[in-house]
Amino acid sequence: MPATIDLLTSPTLKHLRERWWNDDFTEFLAETLRPRPGNRILDVGCGEGNAQVRLGRLHVSQLRLFGVDLVIERVMVARHEAGAHNQRVGYACADACHLPFRDGAFDSTFCVAVLQHIGDVQAAVREFARVTAPTGRVLALEPDNEARYWFSSTPGGVRAFEVSTRFFGALGAARGDLTDAKVGPRIPSLFTTHGIDPIAVRMFPVSQTQLGPYEESVWQRRRDVVQQAIDQAPTNTVRDLGREYLQVLDAYAAEATQAGPSFVEIQNTMLFATVGQKRE
Ligand SMILES: C[S@@+](CC[C@H](N)C(=O)[O-])C[C@H]1O[C@@H](n2cnc3c(N)ncnc32)[C@H](O)[C@@H]1O
Repeated sequence: MPATIDLLTSPTLKHLRERWWNDDFTEFLAETLRPRPGNRILDVGCGEGNAQVRLGRLHVSQLRLFGVDLVIERVMVARHEAGAHNQRVGYACADACHLPFRDGAFDSTFCVAVLQHIGDVQAAVREFARVTAPTGRVLALEPDNEARYWFSSTPGGVRAFEVSTRFFGALGAARGDLTDAKVGPRIPSLFTTHGIDPIAVRMFPVSQTQLGPYEESVWQRRRDVVQQAIDQAPTNTVRDLGREYLQVLDAYAAEATQAGPSFVEIQNTMLFATVGQKRE
């Protein structure tokens, strides 16, 4: 399975970046952020600088791009990438909830798949509003990690999804995970609370279909991810649930292989893009 959606190994869209960072998505980002010559644009949770490289290709004169990320290693990769593409981007290591910029410093501010990792999304959106100039654009693209469609043609697949959901839910709870799985569709109300008028919402579905049995390597990858999660689980209860899940996965793999060409597995999840305008 390529770097793609797999609801059996993750409760979130965290690993799905490659699926939405295509040319359509860049075009949407550019249309929404409306970069003008001389504009300053901030990407919060910029990761390895994907957005800057893509926006840089638009060749808007004197566009000033900035990116911050909590993880210094990602900021360093982003800096290296910008250099390799001959771009000047201002990168810094910073927390979305405490941005190191003055009020109204940017013409537009955006984030892609970042709020889903943050416990205090109110603080982060408050900061987005603070650092954006009046009438500037704010854009947040985030998933609803609970809105997951799953279909499998075998009963083992239905069971695997059910146990997977319980296992990853229990893992998150045992780790004290405070993030909001449904943050995507809640962004318009978060924006309104912090002085950003929502002006558009667009959905980006992310899907994966499989017809006919998977290769063994896919099942092995699924087992490996679950085993890794079991090894890192903080409680015996969660570890036991993980071991049960591994057995269910094995049974599912056997059923899928036996079903042969009639085996079908369909997965879909949603990314929500909310476009807002900072109030005057
Ligand atoms: C799924 S990645 C998305 C990266 C990038 N936006 C993209 O689309 O390629 C999420 C990023 O958010 C960053 N992140 C998580 N919590 C953060 C916080 N509190 N402040 C800043 N960045 C954060 C992570 O380090 C990671 O690089």
